[in-house]
Amino acid sequence: MYCIKTLAFLPLLVSSVLGQAGKIRYMPFGDSITEIICWRGLLYTQLQAAGYTNVDFVGSGNGQNPSGCSTATYDRDNEGHSGFLAINIANNKQLVGWLQKNPADIITMHLGTNDISQGKPTADILTAFSKLIDVMRASNPTMKIIVAQIIPNNYINPGVQALNKAIPAWAVSKNTTSSPIWVVDQYTGFRTSDLSDGIHPNAAGDAVMASRWFPALKRAINLMNVTGH
Ligand SMILES: *[C@@H]1O[C@H](CO)[C@@H](O)[C@H](O)[C@H]1NC(C)=O
Ligand SMILES: *[C@@H]1O[C@H](CO)[C@@H](O)[C@H](O)[C@H]1NC(C)=O
Repeated sequence: MYCIKTLAFLPLLVSSVLGQAGKIRYMPFGDSITEIICWRGLLYTQLQAAGYTNVDFVGSGNGQNPSGCSTATYDRDNEGHSGFLAINIANNKQLVGWLQKNPADIITMHLGTNDISQGKPTADILTAFSKLIDVMRASNPTMKIIVAQIIPNNYINPGVQALNKAIPAWAVSKNTTSSPIWVVDQYTGFRTSDLSDGIHPNAAGDAVMASRWFPALKRAINLMNVTGH
């Protein structure tokens, strides 16, 4: 959220419960692959360029890649937490508070890398994903949910492939009309040369990730324009 804008529109604060007058609240949610990267800046710029100027990125963090991102100015708010496991976020109910503090209409979730690194089985990760979806819907019954089949990893790729393979059927099983889940494939075509350290995207990888999120975000925003929620 932009503090300056909030102040400028003080009389509209009441409506901020439902989103700041016409603003669509988007939470980028995940681990370091959502926190200390540059794809959020690229995505923000692409949305602005396409005329989606009413999107407010939300979340309790505002970091980016410490080595800097080329995108000059963007809404850095996000809910990326480096090192976090989906299983721990779910079991510790951390997303409950995060969404209370920063309600959202649309959320992208790129999680599982740290779970796999710590040897957690696919089934346990999907159980955590289900709990997280339930938290999202308890916070907002019409939450638009975009879940990634996660990017490759030089160290734990068999686990990544196993999770990615299981995600589509899991997503179908959790899908609802009022709160759709869309799966975005961040894996296929993502090259090892798109990684900076075998784990995180480099500039080329950031571009790939933004290009995959972008159509999904647009679809969610367009649906909200039509239905009003
Ligand atoms: C949805 O709203 C945004 C912002 O007003 C606009 O840029 C976009 O074109 C709209 N989409 C549709 C399908 O109306
Ligand atoms: C969930 O349902 C929506 C329609 O409401 C559809 O667009 C989407 O592809 C479905 N998700 C999955 C994973 O099948």
